Amino acid sequence: MQIFLDTAEINEIRSRLDAGLVDGVTTNPSLIAKAGAGIFERVAEICDAVDGPVSAEVVATEADAMIAEGKRLAEIAPNVVVKLPLTAQGLVACRTFAEAGIQTNVTLCFSINQALMAAKAGASYISPFVGRVDDAGGDGIGLLAGIREVYDNFGYETEILAASMRGPAHVEAAAAVGCDAATIPPKVFDALVAHPLTEKGLAAFLKDWEATGRKGLD
Ligand code: G3P
Repeated sequence: MQIFLDTAEINEIRSRLDAGLVDGVTTNPSLIAKAGAGIFERVAEICDAVDGPVSAEVVATEADAMIAEGKRLAEIAPNVVVKLPLTAQGLVACRTFAEAGIQTNVTLCFSINQALMAAKAGASYISPFVGRVDDAGGDGIGLLAGIREVYDNFGYETEILAASMRGPAHVEAAAAVGCDAATIPPKVFDALVAHPLTEKGLAAFLKDWEATGRKGLD
C-alpha cells in the first residue's frame, strides 16, 4: 500500500524521507493555510523533495474556474495531482483533466455512490474521509470496503486513497480492506513504526551487551 503524508509542512516531510517509506504527499487549503505558505511555492518545494504524487487542491467552485486553477497547479511539476472536491462541478473538471491526461484526486468523499461517480468521471484517486465519517457516527472503514467492492465489481482503476486517518488502527484497517493508498498526518506515520515492546526489547538487548563491557560490536 502506498503511504502519503497529509501535510503541507515541508520540514515534517523532509525529515521522514530517508527510509523510502513516503510515496507521496497530499495537501488541502486548510493544511496550506496552517503552514502559512503560498500554495504555488509550497507545492513546488514539496514536489522537489518527493518523487511521488503531490496533491494540490483548487479553491474555485465552478468547473471552468476549477479547470483554470488546476491547470496552473499542474504546471508546477509533473508529479502534481489536481485535487478537486466531490461536487457536480468538481466532476466536470475531473472529466476534463482525465481527457487531458492530468492526474486528479477527488476529495471529500463520504459515500459509495460519490466514489462511483468519481470513478465514472475518470478520477485517478478517490479520497474517502474515514475519520470524519466515524465522527458523524458512521463506519469509515466500512465505506472503504464498500468502495473497494464496487470498484472491483466493475474494474474501475481509480485508486482508493484513504484520508482523514486518525491513527494506526485506521491504516491497518484500510490496508486490510485493500485500499491502494492512505494519506496520514506525520504523527500517525511515526506511530506506524513505533511499538512499546520493540523499545522494551531493544533496551534489554543493549543493557545485556553493555554489561559485557564491550564497545560496539568488538
Ligand atoms: O487531507 C484531507 C483529510 O485527510 C483531512 O483529515 O483529519 O481533517 O478529517 P481530517
